Amino acid sequence: MQNDYILGIESSCDDTSAAVICNGKVLSNVVANQEVHSKYGGVVPELASRAHQQNIVPVVQQAIEKAGIKKEDLSAVAFTRGPGLMGSLLVGTSFAKSLALGLNVPLIDVNHMQAHILAHFIVEEGSNIPPFPFICLTISGGHTQIVKVTDHFNMEILGETIDDAVGEAFDKSAKILGLPYPGGPYIDKYAQLGNPKAYPFTKPKVGDMDFSFSGLKTGILYFIQKQQRINPNFITENLNDICASIQYTIVEILMDKLKNAVKHTGIQHIAIAGGVSANSEIRRRLSTADKHFGWTTYIPKFEYTTDNAAMIAITGYLKYLNKEYADENISAKARLKVTE
Ligand code: KG4
Ligand code: ZN
Repeated sequence: MQNDYILGIESSCDDTSAAVICNGKVLSNVVANQEVHSKYGGVVPELASRAHQQNIVPVVQQAIEKAGIKKEDLSAVAFTRGPGLMGSLLVGTSFAKSLALGLNVPLIDVNHMQAHILAHFIVEEGSNIPPFPFICLTISGGHTQIVKVTDHFNMEILGETIDDAVGEAFDKSAKILGLPYPGGPYIDKYAQLGNPKAYPFTKPKVGDMDFSFSGLKTGILYFIQKQQRINPNFITENLNDICASIQYTIVEILMDKLKNAVKHTGIQHIAIAGGVSANSEIRRRLSTADKHFGWTTYIPKFEYTTDNAAMIAITGYLKYLNKEYADENISAKARLKVTE
């Protein structure tokens, strides 16, 4: 069998990442996180593009070195075209174009949201690849969607958020509690030691498979403000319980919507994707869903949940097999639906 080496480049938000895969197996997956944003409580687009500019050459070099190949061995260069921050996307797009042109290999554009889902097709020992059709709950800092996946590149959005993404719900709640950005992993960490039923928060009322998180965030803010008027140390004294209660409410919402999706479609193969699928509670609840509801669940490896280039490389590989190459005039696109 011929070895097809695909380089993937991801620069849609605040992680600069490069990965090399060979015939669907990951040889390297290098991620440079940008610390610079944490003191601002969110991603600063201008700083993100500058950091990508500084990181991209060493990150790509490291990915190629770790893979044990030379850049001349590459069969194609895949990059994130969108969705994401325009300035950030432009860095990866321009770099990928120049490299592909220099090496005289095909250039392949990748949709970041499709890539989160297609991370499930990375070939690994013991990996559990979902059969078509399956339902994917895509949960990240920018998106919250229930997607029906009929084929690698045939996806249909069954439901999505009408306001904030679930990652934002985690991050904004964390900000209210004075935790650093991004706060999702901190809520997850403190929640492990808390009582999830300590404080009941109201679940939103929206369409069967749609989501809304802005009301929950406001509810949490008012609750905290009220408690702090009674006890100024309320947050520090009850941090674990508050985090556990917030996380419990969010995961309950996600599970309710998945149950609705199964009811509507009859599909019982359920996958999760995106940064929030790193959350330990959603992983725990899904891993027992086969026992409770008869579902077969697909939970990606931790390193393929938050933004990474291995997912870009595997999507690039699947397109490479179909000879779906990009034209060199292609440009980055800040807004791109999972179906585009
Ligand atoms: O997919 P991702 O890396 O970037 C986007 O494309 O948005 O997702 C980032 C989001 C952030 O909101 C972050 O707080 C959240 O994923 N996140 C988590 C956890 N790890 C990352 N949320 C809850 N629990 C976690 N363990
Ligand atoms: Zn993402």
